[in-house]
Amino acid sequence: MPRHSLEGFSSPGSTGKALSFLFISSAVILVIMVLLVLFWKCIKPKILSLKKVKSTKNGPDYFSGNLRTISYFDYCTLKRATRDFDTKNQLGGGGFGQVYKGKLVDGRMIAVKQLSLGSSQQGESEFLAEVRMLTSIQHKNLVHLIGCCSEGAQRLLVYEYMKNGSLDSIIYENSETFLNWKIRFQIILGIARGLQYLHEDSNLRIVHRDIKASNILLDDKFRPKISDFGLARFFPEDQAYLSTGVAGTLGYTAPEYAIRGELSEKADIYSFGVLAIEIISSRKNTDLSLPTEMQYLPEYAWKLFERSSVIDLVDPKLRTDGIVEKDVLQVCHVAFLCLQPHPSLRPPMSEIVAMLTCKIEPMAAPVKPAFLGRKHRIDISLSLEPPSEILSSPPQSNSTFSPLPNRFSPPRDAFKR
Ligand SMILES: Nc1ncnc2c1ncn2[C@@H]1O[C@H](COP(=O)(O)OP(=O)(O)O)[C@@H](O)[C@H]1O
Ligand SMILES: [Mg+2]
Repeated sequence: MPRHSLEGFSSPGSTGKALSFLFISSAVILVIMVLLVLFWKCIKPKILSLKKVKSTKNGPDYFSGNLRTISYFDYCTLKRATRDFDTKNQLGGGGFGQVYKGKLVDGRMIAVKQLSLGSSQQGESEFLAEVRMLTSIQHKNLVHLIGCCSEGAQRLLVYEYMKNGSLDSIIYENSETFLNWKIRFQIILGIARGLQYLHEDSNLRIVHRDIKASNILLDDKFRPKISDFGLARFFPEDQAYLSTGVAGTLGYTAPEYAIRGELSEKADIYSFGVLAIEIISSRKNTDLSLPTEMQYLPEYAWKLFERSSVIDLVDPKLRTDGIVEKDVLQVCHVAFLCLQPHPSLRPPMSEIVAMLTCKIEPMAAPVKPAFLGRKHRIDISLSLEPPSEILSSPPQSNSTFSPLPNRFSPPRDAFKR
């Protein structure tokens, strides 16, 4: 056979080999491709979701809190510390149980909250809510949970003891302790900082839902700590508002929450506004023993504001002791911004802290709060529909804002401390 006939043509045997090689290799490629598609479609998502579960376990746990940060006490230890829950050691008590002062064997002073479980299971959910919340957060203006006890039907929470009790016992009642303006201002600022942490700075977004004077504790130096997290809720980042049944305290409740159950951090901001005016005036937000015009504190405060005499709101004892008038007016202005009827108008806590510390000038003039007149109160209880006057549309521009009396607008840098 001539040499060229061998080149370019293969023998029948080698052609068969080449064909079978081609067949096998394309079959292998096909199998690999099918496997790849299978992996992409079915197996990978499973692996990813497993990884996600693992990472949430390592990261902040929304459901169980970081329980390792607190101690577990047995019931006997707490019984001994409080001298068998002696009524003489009772510090307070409210909706869900009593609070007792106690002393541990190492000398540490504690406050023990004994939750009444009852048949409603509300005590149990209060207990879990508070443990979850307080083990997930830490700030100098939030009460510190030392530990808990869950033994049989007993549910107890153990806190650091706050020597000066709660703010309500000092500002409303004829307490022997008098708080001067400097301390009152530090209390207002401390509460604002605690709320800023809850709403904006902690890695969880939290709405307290029950900001009021009896839930503000004071340590030995009258530094304020927000307490009572039984009603507090973790708030998903992407949710505009939660409606989990209206809870809280009358007189402190924001109108949109009381009427429509719309809950956001702005409800806490409203309550903060009420509390700030209470601290300045040393009185409860509602006092039916007073003349009609003075009974509801924010309404009375607004009337004084419209008459350019908001300074008359200040507790006379405090005035005699000495106040810094421009600072008081500044706090009133901030409080009115918090009391505005539309949640979107109320400034976030970070801005409130900045205004109180004079890092920014107060914003626009406040819009009149949504007062529930006697007639409206009856309407609401019957229909649960917002009377139009109470929740009218938010102003579209600053031009519709109520004019602010001149004496209320502080001069530039007037409030520098
Ligand atoms: N750590 C504490 N130190 C001192 N007093 C406290 C402490 N915790 C609570 N109290 C007192 O007990 C009262 C009720 O406590 P709180 O936690 O608000 O429970 P409740 O759910 O009953 O409102 C407070 O208003 C305060 O007077
Ligand atoms: Mg309370």
